[in-house]
Amino acid sequence: MLNGKRILLIVAGGIAAFKSQELIRLLRKRGAAVRCVLTEAGAEFVTPLSLQALTEDRVYSDMFSLTDESEMGHIQLSRDADLLVVAPATANLLARMAAGLADDLASTVLLATDKPVLAAPAMNVRMWTHAATAANVATLRGRGVAFVGPNEGVMACNEFGPGRMSEPEEIVAAIEALLAKGRPLAGKRALVTSGPTREAIDPVRYISNHSSGKQGHAIATALACLGAEVTLVSGPVAIADPPGLKVVKVESADEMLAACLQPGAVDVAVCAAAVADWKAARPASAKLKKKPGAAPPSLELAPNPDILATLSKAGPKRPKLVVGFAAETENLVANAVDKRRRKGCDWIVANDVSPAAGTFGGERNTVHLVSAGGVEEWPTLAKEEVAARLADRIADHLGRPRPAAAAE
Ligand code: C5P
Repeated sequence: MLNGKRILLIVAGGIAAFKSQELIRLLRKRGAAVRCVLTEAGAEFVTPLSLQALTEDRVYSDMFSLTDESEMGHIQLSRDADLLVVAPATANLLARMAAGLADDLASTVLLATDKPVLAAPAMNVRMWTHAATAANVATLRGRGVAFVGPNEGVMACNEFGPGRMSEPEEIVAAIEALLAKGRPLAGKRALVTSGPTREAIDPVRYISNHSSGKQGHAIATALACLGAEVTLVSGPVAIADPPGLKVVKVESADEMLAACLQPGAVDVAVCAAAVADWKAARPASAKLKKKPGAAPPSLELAPNPDILATLSKAGPKRPKLVVGFAAETENLVANAVDKRRRKGCDWIVANDVSPAAGTFGGERNTVHLVSAGGVEEWPTLAKEEVAARLADRIADHLGRPRPAAAAE
């Protein structure tokens, strides 16, 4: 049931907008209060009058209307809701959400909100499978937007494939699940390492690797979306800091270890960083100079501290759950099983980093989750989806509050 829940339903311009009317009916039957924002294109498919009749509330559509803005500004619209539902979510609105545009009331409310957002995409199959839409959806997932559908079937344009908006009953089920899930990691502390490390040879040269930090940053974001207080310890990366969490920037493995020991006791540590195994034994304090005719200098290496193994050591400060990564180019699972034992961590996320898999710097990842319970094979997913799944599993492991309590 959704008794007393306040849903702000954003209806964008798609043929599936007619299903939003049934969605309103079902939500109200379950006790929810529904208020609608109708986009200009949405009004080509459903009338404000029918939405007004179904919601028994006025319909908001105009960003600059004297009446809409004076009676209910975009901030207040999102403040007054427990959840924002975008149904249908068109390719255009998803693109504007991903880009952070605020060029009408719907996109402005979506940019201004700090409430959970559920999107039910509806569009032509080619638009849904287009790389631009896939990238927008991955971006939005990475920011915590939940999705329901689209379903596969024959569409209004007579093409077959994924693109049909989920049925109103499915959207209601997703809304109930989302509201029940709440923020299961609220009150939990998480530490995530991400990116490569840089080991100085001299003041201008270093040893490093190809890690982009995309997977580690996505995990930090996904944990924060579930309510965890996250410290992200990141090596040098070219991607932006995730908003709303503490980011500690480091260069070397020694600095990364020191930063990881700083936050004190955490509930979960996820070591996704590609830490350099070795550093220069004696980094030069001045730039090493080429001397004409002289042999190249030899570089003596020393081992770096193993951060994952250090955090996994038993003791009162050990996190309840320590998760490591195993980047392998061959014998993926066997090496990961062995690594879990050697490092003393609880789970290993094993990922295939052979050049053919395109994991380094790419958008997708193919992983296995190795735990004491066995080995799980996950499908190839966007890095944000791997992160969301992992965060969900972490929430399960650390003990979700019971749904009844979470829904209060
Ligand atoms: O030993 P290997 O580098 O294969 O192990 C990978 C896992 O160990 C990753 O989780 C990585 O973040 C972590 N690691 C670490 N410190 C190191 C080396 C690896 O935390 N010095």
